[in-house]
Amino acid sequence: MYLIKLLDRPQHAFVHNMLRLLGLCLLLPAYIAAQAVPQTIHLQSRIAPVSATLRRRSLNPVTVPLADFFLGTDLQWFGNITVGTPPQTVSVVFDTGSSTLEFASTLCGASCDNQVKFDSSKSSTFVDGGTTSSITFSTDIKLTRKSLTLRSGTDTVGIGGLTFGIDPFSGIQGMSARAQGLFAGLVAQGLPSLFSLFLTPQAVGNAEMTVGGIDTTKFTGNLTFASLPAGATDGWFLDSPQLSVNGKTTTVLQAAREIIFDSGTSNILFPTATANAMYALISPDIVPHAAEPGAYGIACDKISTLPAVIDIAFTAQDGSPFNLTIPSSELNVGPFADNPAICQTLINAFDGLSLVGGSLLKHYYSVWDVGGQRMGFAAV
Ligand SMILES: *[C@@H]1O[C@H](CO)[C@@H](O)[C@H](O)[C@H]1NC(C)=O
Ligand SMILES: *[C@@H]1O[C@H](CO)[C@@H](O)[C@H](O)[C@H]1NC(C)=O
Ligand SMILES: *[C@@H]1O[C@H](CO)[C@@H](O)[C@H](O)[C@H]1NC(C)=O
Repeated sequence: MYLIKLLDRPQHAFVHNMLRLLGLCLLLPAYIAAQAVPQTIHLQSRIAPVSATLRRRSLNPVTVPLADFFLGTDLQWFGNITVGTPPQTVSVVFDTGSSTLEFASTLCGASCDNQVKFDSSKSSTFVDGGTTSSITFSTDIKLTRKSLTLRSGTDTVGIGGLTFGIDPFSGIQGMSARAQGLFAGLVAQGLPSLFSLFLTPQAVGNAEMTVGGIDTTKFTGNLTFASLPAGATDGWFLDSPQLSVNGKTTTVLQAAREIIFDSGTSNILFPTATANAMYALISPDIVPHAAEPGAYGIACDKISTLPAVIDIAFTAQDGSPFNLTIPSSELNVGPFADNPAICQTLINAFDGLSLVGGSLLKHYYSVWDVGGQRMGFAAV
């Protein structure tokens, strides 16, 4: 989930939403492996090939509802999983931008009292991984140094009635593009190797994730599929030849780039030169916000009328071009804490990667086809 981003990517831009949400929590990272019998936990079982120990049978897709965490803007979508024996309900973000499963536990103490927490002492199948790690970061709100503690552990995990044993030493995957971890577990048990997200704005509601299938009642028209680049690692990203803003493009925006799709991040991130070129096509009044590196803002009373349609070009599997479009309504992500008269704008400058998330995904039904190594989109 998002915490891993703090370990392997520059930190501040990812922490913004997460910190508001989590406070300072002790989290249990749980790594899901493929074990047909949940109670059998092989802590050191890296050697055994997962498939050899399983009997293949078919599993039907399951759909779980997602709740929108909304703070002036749609930030993240949460769903419930169950952890432990007997099962305890825990809320998680199904995050396509990282590879582990982490959630709040009672070890947090009072710092995450407002969350659904996992109590490992009440689970007969919990095995403490014995590893505590700590990560330090600053928020892009106040630049205060904060730290989060992660405790490793293993237990059984279930989603929508499907249950798995989890193992910290085998597949470490949340919702990324390789069939490890959760998806190795699902697929080994016969579930189709894909999942679909219907991330809706709060006002619309009924957000959901379907594991193992596509809920065709949630969109009209056809899905457009694009292949992940050949030789891709485990990330969800697509090649894009061009960005346009309000129907216009520039030399800087016509550079080929890989766009990461990250359901756990609400703002969009582009290298500084790209972000500046995009803002130049929106308004000269949008300027970097000194208190928060990478963030930009404009007087709140000027923002609502600004056109800011962002078209991101991709190539479908049949070779035809298509755009994914972020509408102007996403430009305003709300007032800055240090100056509420200034509203933060959608695009963060972040050198080294290009990333879109919830602000784009909530305008499409999206299919994350692990087995087919492709992504599908349909307008909603
Ligand atoms: C998660 O479970 C809690 C407790 O059972 C429930 O109140 C909440 O509505 C559930 N959330 C979702 C998104 O299903
Ligand atoms: C969807 O695809 C079918 C089959 O390729 C095609 O006949 C139909 O026109 C498409 N619909 C839309 C809305 O593009
Ligand atoms: C994508 O958007 C750009 C800019 O608005 C436009 O010029 C182009 O025709 C669009 N492409 C498609 C396939 O719609």
